[in-house]
Amino acid sequence: MTSNAEYAIIEGLPTPQVDHDLRKLAGMTPPPLDAVPKALENSFVGILAWGTKHMLDEATPSPNQTPVAMGRLLGDKSLFLLLCDVAVHPDHQRKGLGKRIMKVLVDYIDAHAPQAYVSLVAEPAAHKLYPQYRFKDVQPSIGMYRMLRDRTIGGEIVNEGPDGA
Ligand SMILES: CC(C)(COP(=O)(O)OP(=O)(O)OC[C@H]1O[C@@H](n2cnc3c(N)ncnc32)[C@H](O)[C@@H]1OP(=O)(O)O)[C@@H](O)C(=O)NCCC(=O)NCCS
Repeated sequence: MTSNAEYAIIEGLPTPQVDHDLRKLAGMTPPPLDAVPKALENSFVGILAWGTKHMLDEATPSPNQTPVAMGRLLGDKSLFLLLCDVAVHPDHQRKGLGKRIMKVLVDYIDAHAPQAYVSLVAEPAAHKLYPQYRFKDVQPSIGMYRMLRDRTIGGEIVNEGPDGA
């Protein structure tokens, strides 16, 4: 856990609704809600940021409180990990939360899976964030993905279903 006057960064997973809503609010593809509980259960670790103003004490968010940012790691917990769900609520962006969450996540990797190949897909807003934590472009490889559901690109919903691109 790390705290400053405004925000506390605490290990934990979002609820499925918070995961969905924070991704959507941050302009990322929101997940189908019915698939989120299983996804979260299979996480390696999750990190959440909370506004200290509403917390019960420095380590305990209040029951009705919603986290303002998150980040998550998943994978085989040793050699291959995926960093995902890095999202900061728009009202709380550019205040260092993305960096604080990344620092806790890479510290976690270094402590628990120091030999891991950690991959991610960097959205434009995060192109300068991840290199600060030693993430590199995959060149000469290229990144690929397969997903048969809609994706949000620059705020537009793109149909990638069986009949889409
Ligand atoms: C990208 C994001 C996670 C960064 O978190 P943040 O708390 O707003 O950013 P921080 O204040 O910690 O700053 C981290 C770095 O991100 C970069 N950055 C943040 N917001 C940015 C934006 N809108 N456009 C371009 N760069 C941005 C800056 O380079 C900054 O580093 P610097 O100050 O050393 O230059 C956050 O803005 C966000 O959730 N954006 C929308 C969703 C998204 O793109 N998530 C990443 C998925 S890969």
